[in-house]
Amino acid sequence: MNKITAAITAVGAYVPDFVLSNQVLETMVDTNDEWITTRTGIKERRLLKENGKGTSYLAIKAAQNLIEKANLDPKEIDLVIMATATPDMPVASTGVYVATQIGATNAFAFDLHAACSSFLYGMSTASAYIQSGKYKKVLLIGADKMSSIIDYTDRATCIIFGDGGGAVLFEPNEEGLGLQDEYLRSDGIGREYLKIDAGGSILPPSEETVKNGQHFVFQDGKTVFKYAVSGMADVSEKIMERNNLTKEDINWLVSHQANRRIIDATASRMGLDEEKVLINIQKYGNTTSATLPLLLSDFEHKLKKGDNLIFAAFGGGFTWGSIYLKWAYNKQ
Ligand code: UT7
Repeated sequence: MNKITAAITAVGAYVPDFVLSNQVLETMVDTNDEWITTRTGIKERRLLKENGKGTSYLAIKAAQNLIEKANLDPKEIDLVIMATATPDMPVASTGVYVATQIGATNAFAFDLHAACSSFLYGMSTASAYIQSGKYKKVLLIGADKMSSIIDYTDRATCIIFGDGGGAVLFEPNEEGLGLQDEYLRSDGIGREYLKIDAGGSILPPSEETVKNGQHFVFQDGKTVFKYAVSGMADVSEKIMERNNLTKEDINWLVSHQANRRIIDATASRMGLDEEKVLINIQKYGNTTSATLPLLLSDFEHKLKKGDNLIFAAFGGGFTWGSIYLKWAYNKQ
């Protein structure tokens, strides 16, 4: 029997309708379209504005889009992995709620939190479950309602983030397609540079923490940028080397969308031409756990069976890594 690999066999996505453009941000904080565009590549982002709707809403919509497109019976799903940095609630698992809502009543579910690398780590986790031979259909969802933790008076963060969700289905493959190799890293040195101070077990929420805005994301952008550029480029180069991949062998770079300049630096270290680099940061900004599946959804029509994809991400913690995956289908 051939070795079982974990292949992506379907993709779904969802972004909310509300668009927050650079022009509108100019009226909210001291910034301008030219600065945001040249420093980040972002033109607009989507926000989930309706009261009472959280990350699960984005996740359910993305999963339902996949289920419909793939004509999948949700009862066949064995496991739902919910990659997110913004769960609906600190305790009740968002993934469990999502699984029930989409009708995946035979699945078990859990949340996976690794900041902007949540989806990348989720790919590794989903693949391991498939390769164990015990699970046949693993649904990996990446969704974040970043607008719930962003201070819209802080120009250092509010120009960057957006809301969205995406989902992929992993299934066993015996043709050698799917996940080939992974190189995942983490380093606690990053804890001080990208964080939310309050609301966790160290500093529970209080009147004081809310008054100080400590429930919002803080980012030392310059430092994170420096680590992200070298981290993502290093792991992507490493995964090419150890799989004997030349730049000609790679069809697509599927990179976390945090900053256009970080993506370009990674592509440049890999020696890739611009047309091999998937980019949609201009439309959505940084949607944290949703960037990778949103790319797969937007560019699904271009991906061909057998294509070599390199995924790369970098996030708070720090967490980062790279995954080499062979695409398993042609879009109908
Ligand atoms: O996904 C998780 C990982 N996160 C990331 O990968 C994000 C990494 N960091 C970044 O993408 C970038 O650091 C930012 C986009 C956040 C900031 O870009 P930068 O080129 O690092 O800007 P900076 O913080 O060094 O600021 C440069 C200048 C400063 O002015 P002075 O001191 O040179 O006069 C800032 O005050 O730009 C100013 N500035 C702004 N100006 C207009 C900072 N933010 C803004 C703004 N609009 N929004």
